[in-house]
Amino acid sequence: VQPWRDTAGEVAGIIVFAEDITERRQAEDEVRRLNAALERRVAERTAELRAANKELEAFTYAVAHDLRAPLRAMSGFSAALKEDHGALFDGDAAACLQEIIEGSQRMSDLIDGLLTLSRATKGKLQRENVDLSAIARRICLELARQEPERVVHWEVEDGLRARGDRRMLEAALYNLLGNAWKYTVRTPHAEIRMIAQKIESRPGFCVVDNGAGFDMRHAGKLFAPFQRLHRRDEFPGIGIGLATVQRIILRHGGQIQGTSAPGQGAKFCFTVENHAVAGPGEMDE
Ligand SMILES: Nc1ncnc2c1ncn2[C@@H]1O[C@H](COP(=O)(O)OP(=O)(O)OP(=O)(O)O)[C@@H](O)[C@H]1O
Ligand SMILES: [Mg+2]
Repeated sequence: VQPWRDTAGEVAGIIVFAEDITERRQAEDEVRRLNAALERRVAERTAELRAANKELEAFTYAVAHDLRAPLRAMSGFSAALKEDHGALFDGDAAACLQEIIEGSQRMSDLIDGLLTLSRATKGKLQRENVDLSAIARRICLELARQEPERVVHWEVEDGLRARGDRRMLEAALYNLLGNAWKYTVRTPHAEIRMIAQKIESRPGFCVVDNGAGFDMRHAGKLFAPFQRLHRRDEFPGIGIGLATVQRIILRHGGQIQGTSAPGQGAKFCFTVENHAVAGPGEMDE
């Protein structure tokens, strides 16, 4: 509503502007309705996925668990056979028996791996400020203690922090540093470093070693459970470590990638979604 003035500037009437907003209202209502429907559908799908995931977890856990009892019988009886009746077996039969014993040990390791993987991300994700530098140093000291004969030069950058689940992040670091440790076993001057590095402009962390490395052509298999890029007689392992690490990182909303070349060492970098912004005084580690 505006005054209408005549040529002398006197108010001679009023001008009323009117706009029909019915259509706009309708459009807005429609957008609101669609949004609500979309949100409902996302919530439903999320719930469905969560349920399916839980079921799969429970299934894996139950199967792994249930496999243990018959396996124990196999390994127990084959060990007893060797011990109590070993003299009855000639070369060929003894070799077969040995294969059974080793096979059941391997299966037991694989089951343990499955359980480790399924336990790794079990439970609610606790978000707290985690001092990755302190954890990494503790792990390196522990690895060094386990193999005192090895000379490994390790270095962890100060002030590496992330916001996440301490237990899970610790398990992830244990696997990454453990790999660096393992795959440098035949490197004359073994070096392991943990450093901060931006990944796609997000704060990230890298574990770098100068060990055996791997061929990037097979990098697609790195994080798949039970897939290995080295033979078991070269380096022991079952191939569950990086699968566990990836699960943990994805659960945090982060990413992980590995780069390497044969004989050139390896570098594993990851992000953890909510990078800590807390000052040193607020750290709980
Ligand atoms: N630091 C590394 N240097 C060279 N190769 C690596 C490194 N880390 C991982 N790999 C390769 O990736 C594969 C998968 O790693 P992962 O940790 O899942 O399994 P693993 O170390 O073989 O066994 P596990 O961790 O279950 O004992 C390894 O078998 C190895 O070939
Ligand atoms: Mg490993």
